[in-house]
Amino acid sequence: MPFSRILGITAALLFAMSHAYAPPEGFNYDEAKVPHYTLPDPLVANDGTVITSSRQWQQSRRTEILELFETYVYGRRAQLPTDLSFTTTSIDTHALNGKATRKQVTLRFEKEAHRYALHVLIYLPNSAKADVPVFLGYNFNGNHTIHSDPGIHLSTVWMRKNDNGNVNHQATNDARGKSSSRWPVETILDRGYGLATAYYGDIEPDHKNGWKEGIRDFYQTDENGNPLALEDWSAISAWAWGLSRIMDYLETDPEIDSKRVALLGHSRLGKTSLWAGAKDERFAITISNDSGCGGAALSRRAFGETVERINTSFPHWFNRTFKQYNGNENALPVDQHMLIALMAPRPVYVASAEEDIWADPNGEFLSAKGAGPVYKLFGLKGVGVKSQPPVNTPVGNHIGYHIRTGGHDVTDYDWEQYLGFADKHLK
Ligand code: GCU
Repeated sequence: MPFSRILGITAALLFAMSHAYAPPEGFNYDEAKVPHYTLPDPLVANDGTVITSSRQWQQSRRTEILELFETYVYGRRAQLPTDLSFTTTSIDTHALNGKATRKQVTLRFEKEAHRYALHVLIYLPNSAKADVPVFLGYNFNGNHTIHSDPGIHLSTVWMRKNDNGNVNHQATNDARGKSSSRWPVETILDRGYGLATAYYGDIEPDHKNGWKEGIRDFYQTDENGNPLALEDWSAISAWAWGLSRIMDYLETDPEIDSKRVALLGHSRLGKTSLWAGAKDERFAITISNDSGCGGAALSRRAFGETVERINTSFPHWFNRTFKQYNGNENALPVDQHMLIALMAPRPVYVASAEEDIWADPNGEFLSAKGAGPVYKLFGLKGVGVKSQPPVNTPVGNHIGYHIRTGGHDVTDYDWEQYLGFADKHLK
């Protein structure tokens, strides 16, 4: 190879490496250029009534806000399955060198056709004496990627990525353990927690035509029995619905304490976890890791990713009405602090990363802070600080928040905070 060619390749590589985390151009990353905005007040009802008690919140305002998010952002969700079934497909009481019991459970939604299967991987600490609290979260690339444990079934469905051991969008054995840095399984077990995870693509493949192979093509009515068109709900709503079905299973597992389930998700799956935690009050804690636009970040700030951009790049994530707010965030009847508030009085945690400016870390913080007045109705403390704390300085009580150094990812540092938060509230 000529020397000039080698030089060229090296330069290209260096360029690619230095730009690996560069956020898209043409968006605002300057705090001084955030547009002026006024947030809708979670404590003022649609008819103008000021909400002053936790009772009023629980009896009416909470439902109003849920309906606003359904109508304007995430859409509705399907009816309950009439033939939900759980099959334990494998169990190993000596997994991970005897540290854990590993179970794999398949959830099905229909008796006859068996088109959809949600495969749940569960690790429980063998040291546990009583029912264990668990962390539950979807994974991006299949259950087999969260740990190199060869006993984990290899996923056979469509994979979004075509690298890291996937060939033609199908997983191969080379993909095993590829996402393990995001899932410190042994640490979770040592701290006395179980872990349940599933691949979100089991519910609906994550691309704009994914609904054709997902449950959105199957259910015709919503949870209230009303007709449900494709655009009335969204992929995020479908994925969130799947998390509730996993909870249905967890409630039946005698080894698990389903009253102590901490739901977590990263990025698009953080958006999904927030919507699932808002809809389903069985989740004891909800954790958003770098969820950004359409997750924890305030839409009105239009900092980094905007409503228009997310609706254009990922048209399937939100419902059709949300598209009306492209470039018009101020007209939205809700903003994302109201989504965080829907967790009240249950503890909620929002995490950001310093270099993840696409997700608007300060917008994520302001949203967590903006949910505070609702927690106050319950006599509970929110983030407890006026402005975004310095990096690696977690704050908050019932609303936890941190911004850590580094980029868009789930790290041991993040898990350390989530485990501590769970210890504080679940033990
Ligand atoms: C894209 C998208 C984000 C999303 C992220 C992810 O960056 O713009 O909204 O959170 O993907 O899920 O990794």
